[in-house]
Amino acid sequence: KAWRAAIVHCIADPKEVGTENAYEYFADGLLVVDGDTIRAVGDAETLLPTLPHDMLTEHHPDGLITPGFIDTHIHYPQTDMIGSYGEQLLTWLNTYTFPEEGKFADKTHARDVAERFLKELLRNGTTTALVFGTVHKVSVEAFFEACEEQNLRMICGKVMMDRNAPDYLTDTPESSYQESKELIDTWHNKGRLHYAITPRFAPTSSDEQLQLAGQLLGEYDDVYMHTHLSENVDECAWVQDLFPNSKNYLDVYDQNQLLSERSVFAHGIHLCDSEYHRLHETGSAIAFCPTSNLFIGSGLFKLSKAEEYNVNVGMGTDVGGGTSFSILQTLNEAYKVVQLQNENLNPIKSLYLATLGGAKALRLENKIGNLVAGSEADFVILDKKATPLLTSRLALAQSIEESLFVFMTLGDDRAIQATYSAGQCVHLR
Ligand code: GUN
Ligand code: FE
Repeated sequence: KAWRAAIVHCIADPKEVGTENAYEYFADGLLVVDGDTIRAVGDAETLLPTLPHDMLTEHHPDGLITPGFIDTHIHYPQTDMIGSYGEQLLTWLNTYTFPEEGKFADKTHARDVAERFLKELLRNGTTTALVFGTVHKVSVEAFFEACEEQNLRMICGKVMMDRNAPDYLTDTPESSYQESKELIDTWHNKGRLHYAITPRFAPTSSDEQLQLAGQLLGEYDDVYMHTHLSENVDECAWVQDLFPNSKNYLDVYDQNQLLSERSVFAHGIHLCDSEYHRLHETGSAIAFCPTSNLFIGSGLFKLSKAEEYNVNVGMGTDVGGGTSFSILQTLNEAYKVVQLQNENLNPIKSLYLATLGGAKALRLENKIGNLVAGSEADFVILDKKATPLLTSRLALAQSIEESLFVFMTLGDDRAIQATYSAGQCVHLR
């Protein structure tokens, strides 16, 4: 089957090859899909004569096809507490987050939220996410079971947390190691699913737990590690108190062998040069979560610093600290965060961060992140006429860069006409 519409996707990092060489755009494009895999992408007029005459072609004259979006940091158990008022990180966790996460001891509740969470991701064009569960093993089982039904490429893990949290939400170093291992053995690389070892953040883990998390990571070739890093000033001071023998926040994780090519650290706002350097050296990635960083008042992520040190970066919504499931809206806020630092975020770079850059951060760039032949058919059809304002504003856009920028500024779930995962339609507006 083929889809005919405007098509844009990144083929390289704009930082490495320059903006102009980082993407392909076909004003009248064709995306050819065979089962779950992309067979070809290019100009419709060039490709159509090469294809069988009876091939099914869906034409979207007002459509813009992009790769599916990638969310490199989000909490599915926080779906129902999005927009919780008035606090910064540490009180926000105690007041709103922990009580909400307590409900996920119940697998029926977890499955219900997991299904609504996935619907929300898909209606926003997100086809892959790196996802926090709760401390409960059943929360991750419920999530993976819901993903498996739709054959989605998702990464999730059980939170490891043995201190500084309510009793009903804590595990022990041994139980967290054992349960994480069982989940890895059952779910990691099952279909399109992957496991992430998930210590919540340094303050809620003892040294013993972090050490066992690192040991577990070392036992596997390609398991992920997912945690929070240097989000909030009070949090950073607390980490320095709790771990007096660490050089800096990142060093707490580093001393426990938690930095790797498949390690993703959410936020990384208040980092020193040696931390950027160490992230680069170990091939670790940062999830840039602008809606959350603004909403919980954490600070401004320094994208240019991450670039200077060649640290992989992906976009994260961080729902429920973040305020939107939409990667388009997340890019809207990212643009403003960069503006406040007297820099610019080019729309091609934004597209890169939301697709191929996220895929690279997750080491999945050979599978997802763009539309080259051989990639998994995870893509989105944006609708240029989704709203009156999008219609009128896009009619004036002079280039694909400008059109993308308008989508990223005005667009949200209404702009997503359809979402495809492994060639299957998983959302239709
Ligand atoms: N740090 C530790 N836990 C959390 C969480 O649930 N959300 C955010 N934004 N930061 C955290
Ligand atoms: Fe988070």
